[in-house]
Amino acid sequence: LITEVRLRRILDSRGNPTVEAEVSTESGGFGRGAAPSGASTGAHEAVSLPADEAIAAAREHAVPRIEGQVYAGDQRSVDAALRAADGTDDFGTIGANSAVAISMASAKAAADTLGAPLYQHLGGAFRGNTFPTPLGNVVGGGEHAKEATHIQEFLSAPVGAPSVTDAVFANARVHGAVSEILDDRDIPAAKGDEGAWAPAIDDEEAFEVVAEATDTVADEVGFEVGFGLDVAAAELYDPDDGVYRYGDVERTTDEQVEYVADLVDEYDLVYVEDPLDEEDFSGFADLTAKVGSETLVCGDDLFVTNTERLARGIDEAAANAILVKPNQIGTLSDAFDAVELGVENGLAPVISHRSGETEDTTIAHLAVATDAPFVKTGAVGGERTAKLNELIRIEETA
Ligand code: PGA
Ligand code: ZN
Repeated sequence: LITEVRLRRILDSRGNPTVEAEVSTESGGFGRGAAPSGASTGAHEAVSLPADEAIAAAREHAVPRIEGQVYAGDQRSVDAALRAADGTDDFGTIGANSAVAISMASAKAAADTLGAPLYQHLGGAFRGNTFPTPLGNVVGGGEHAKEATHIQEFLSAPVGAPSVTDAVFANARVHGAVSEILDDRDIPAAKGDEGAWAPAIDDEEAFEVVAEATDTVADEVGFEVGFGLDVAAAELYDPDDGVYRYGDVERTTDEQVEYVADLVDEYDLVYVEDPLDEEDFSGFADLTAKVGSETLVCGDDLFVTNTERLARGIDEAAANAILVKPNQIGTLSDAFDAVELGVENGLAPVISHRSGETEDTTIAHLAVATDAPFVKTGAVGGERTAKLNELIRIEETA
């Protein structure tokens, strides 16, 4: 039984306040979880409130429904209590940031009580024994770095790696190789919110640089290092004019589909996230049909980890992968529902961090628990390596 829920304000990686929750159980279990936060958030995400407000509202409405009321090991009841306490569809009362922190802290308290690692508690005895390939953000711009690329994330995808550990180190090497190539070209680069290099170059040059880096590292490590993208196209789309804007270059929806399909061909992209606007299920479907099953077309802002939006996407064959971010929907139960609905319908689940992160490692466990083929959690930087290093530890014990 959960005996205590404590909430506090802590820092996230952008230096903004976020919500941390601690859960204690009667049998001595303890769990701690912290909410991440997005910058290029989807319009249909659950609502994150300012940390102070979220904490005050959760203390008033949610904590009394949980302390002494539900078992940490009964995740569905914990999450149902959060939903009942909130009373809205989008966690507008207590904040998805308070909800997800409590939901994750409860799962960890349950695992602690059981003496099991979190991935084992979440995945259960019938979990497969697969490990996710980490997608490493090595060059980026968009909402994560001003004056850099229009495409938000250029991702290293070490699909041929024999182990998670090899994949994690390969991504860090690609990040390093990008720096060397930029140096050779006399291009200075700061880092964006997720630790990716954020040079002031056009997207075309970024493709050249990242392709050279992944090829170089593939030669070094002796396995395939693929290339992926998060276009985050909702941030480029102008709904009034119906065009995607890359600086002075404008593309209609049809041109955008062509453009991305050509990129998939030219760079053998294994993964393309949010290639179209978050409302454009039919544009997504056109691209998904065009590129075939070799390339994952993944809905992030399109689906926002929401089973209703995912169900529509399945009906319309909009994508063949779903990005899963627990804070987009507010609880681990909802995130698992999205994974399950996706997998039942042939969509690959990809578990993801946010641009604003903490040292919380829940998503590493979630990716292993759900047998996700990919996990997106950056390449370097403490709040990113927290998850990557946790994957290395999990691989050693699992
Ligand atoms: P966000 O970006 O966390 O800023 O929303 C990450 C993503 O778009 O995948
Ligand atoms: Zn995204």
